[in-house]
Amino acid sequence: MAKNAIVGQSGGPTAVINSSLAGVYEAAKRRGIDKVYGMKHGVQGLLNRDVIDLSEAINGELDIELLKRTPSSFLGSCRYKLPNADEQPEVYENLFNILQEMEIAWFFYIGGNDSMDTISKLSDYGRKTGSSIRFIGVPKTIDNDLEGTDHTPGFGSAAKYIGTTIKEIVRDSLVYDMRSVTIVEIMGRNAGWLTAAAALAKSDDCEGADLLYLPEVDFDPDRFVEKVKQLQEKKGNIVIAVSEGIRTRDGVYVCELQEALGPQDAFGHKILTGTARYLASLLSQRLGIKARAIELSTLQRCSSHMVSRMDITEAYQVGGAAVCAAEEGRTGEMVGLSRISENPYQCITELHDIHQIANQEKKVPRDWINKEGDGVTEEMLSYLRPLIQAELSPVYVSGLPRHIVLT
Ligand code: F6P
Repeated sequence: MAKNAIVGQSGGPTAVINSSLAGVYEAAKRRGIDKVYGMKHGVQGLLNRDVIDLSEAINGELDIELLKRTPSSFLGSCRYKLPNADEQPEVYENLFNILQEMEIAWFFYIGGNDSMDTISKLSDYGRKTGSSIRFIGVPKTIDNDLEGTDHTPGFGSAAKYIGTTIKEIVRDSLVYDMRSVTIVEIMGRNAGWLTAAAALAKSDDCEGADLLYLPEVDFDPDRFVEKVKQLQEKKGNIVIAVSEGIRTRDGVYVCELQEALGPQDAFGHKILTGTARYLASLLSQRLGIKARAIELSTLQRCSSHMVSRMDITEAYQVGGAAVCAAEEGRTGEMVGLSRISENPYQCITELHDIHQIANQEKKVPRDWINKEGDGVTEEMLSYLRPLIQAELSPVYVSGLPRHIVLT
């Protein structure tokens, strides 16, 4: 009888992904699992038998607390796409042999829509071959583009970072008595949830970002220049939030208008960068104004000094819920968060068929974006606000946050 569990982290990291790892680890231990293994660099590492016994890396309560507060994937990550089982059965035979040798009963994968493809393929293969291993997905992504969940762990902290950073950028943009435009580029690929979070900055002490451009609406560079020109007649300093994934009507990423993008990852995703840079130079050329580009890039997903406590708590909960699901004998499912109350905000966990989630992208509904396509509605703000609530301070040593790292 198999008695061990294994957990991996996959795809882009977040500031709270290790809180889910802690949730899986502690819940599995509580349920009497003998060993909890960690895959180094996800399933790609597992194929090379690159695994660790987590109890050798995590010693006691303090390590658990540090793990929750350590950004980025503790175990390392991968962007590895499993081949189809009918095309390369040997990959699956190899993986299932390794899992059998390690006496694995429960397999957990913390990831986004691409990583859920791995759970989908492994659970399908397991069912087909009569394996008793349970495969459960644990959601995470700053992009918030996973189906089957109200929101994804990792998103709330990135949204909090963005709302805060936009407030600070607005303050900075106002210092000189001259015309300027600051364009902030935000991650999220083809979904605009994170860019929408820039709207959180608007408050009684901050006028917020003036324009927001999400990938759900076609982007027209000429209309954009005209809009900025009109706005500058009313106010000198403008702050704009743009998604890295905005595209023109022909489906060309705006960042590709400047230069061809480099190679794609295993899931066919281009590495998006340079949207803000391109738009800033367009404005300088066309309007002759000072325009600065800021790419938040990895900062928005690894800033553990500004996590949302709500996010860290929910990340831990979905890890624990995944273990309960495996114990109940479920497989081929992902834990989702379901919002059962707005006021007070409350989410419960639920299970969803992995096939409805893998490789899908949940976009921002068009009616949560304003008519002009350059801002978001009050509905979006009500959705976002609970997710950024409360703080969890890092453990500071010599003035800097302390992290737990694999040695
Ligand atoms: O998976 C989330 C994400 O952070 C996207 O928002 C972004 O486009 C992508 O990952 C970047 O991926 P990588 O770090 O692999 O270049």
